[in-house]
Amino acid sequence: MSEIEKIAKQIIAKGRGILAADESTGTMTKRLSSVNVESTAENRLKFRETLFSSEGMKNYIGGVILYDETIKQKTSSGKTIPELIENSGSVPGIKVDTGAKKLAGSSEEKITEGLDRLRERLTEYYKLGARFTKWRAVYNISDKFPSELSIKSNAHALARYAALAQEAKMVPIVEPEVLMDGDHDINKCYEITSKVLKECYKELALHKINLKGTLLKPNMILSGDKSKNKSNSLEIAKITIKCIKENVPSEVPGIAFLSGGQTEVEATQNLNEINKINDTNFLMSFSYGRALQQSALKNWGKNINDTNNTQKIFNHRSKMNGLSTTAKWNIKLENHVSA
Ligand code: 13P
Repeated sequence: MSEIEKIAKQIIAKGRGILAADESTGTMTKRLSSVNVESTAENRLKFRETLFSSEGMKNYIGGVILYDETIKQKTSSGKTIPELIENSGSVPGIKVDTGAKKLAGSSEEKITEGLDRLRERLTEYYKLGARFTKWRAVYNISDKFPSELSIKSNAHALARYAALAQEAKMVPIVEPEVLMDGDHDINKCYEITSKVLKECYKELALHKINLKGTLLKPNMILSGDKSKNKSNSLEIAKITIKCIKENVPSEVPGIAFLSGGQTEVEATQNLNEINKINDTNFLMSFSYGRALQQSALKNWGKNINDTNNTQKIFNHRSKMNGLSTTAKWNIKLENHVSA
């Protein structure tokens, strides 16, 4: 097995998943201002260091996705951030796209950028300790979207990124996110996500990607956030597994779902249900941003020096999500916030 094939499995195996802490400075500023904390480089580091030095990292977090600023920062004890992450047995990763911009030709949609100088940036990130990477494409659901142009151009960019990441000996996480915004039903999300995944794997094949050395980070199949017809966890799990089975080649070792606006408990419960009925060979895990950080951030915003309680909350969420990767979570466990 090649090194990237080993890493792809390692970061989501044995009850573990990924902490997506790769918010760009703009997004992180929004998150911090929601809890009335000023967005300085120092405060962004302080919150992230609080999470990365938590006990919960050891058993439940196999990989952490960092942002360019964070991978270059040093902790209060002088270690680099990648060293801190490795110390808890987790693998440092890096977001390498430079964001979703207006798509020329369909200006209400977005194309993810970041291919310019990507080869050079990847070499630098490898030297800084990164062993896996992430690139996120976004698609909106409406009567006319996503267009064929958006599906094709984003798949092409994802494949070019994945080829460069593998050339640099890092695992590419391929993230095509069909957004939850809208009043569409769950079947529409299934239909669009299927189209998007098909096109992504067509392009990945064309670009000769070693699928065993990749991970997929998709959305779960959900009805839109403004839909009147909400599905229960079992319906979500069934249709999500169906979509993955039909569209993801079996060489891909694992699926690390994004949380995409689900509440913390919804994201955990839905993944637990997926693992209860998972009859595929894919490891089904998580790569959560908001669903791992929201409550911890809220507490930290009240007192940024309250490391202990912020870590307790993060440990609890990590444990709940870790348990959901082996279908061992249940709602009663949510009543006890424990490390
Ligand atoms: P959420 O889990 O908050 O959707 O974030 C995951 C992520 O990395 C989006 O790119």
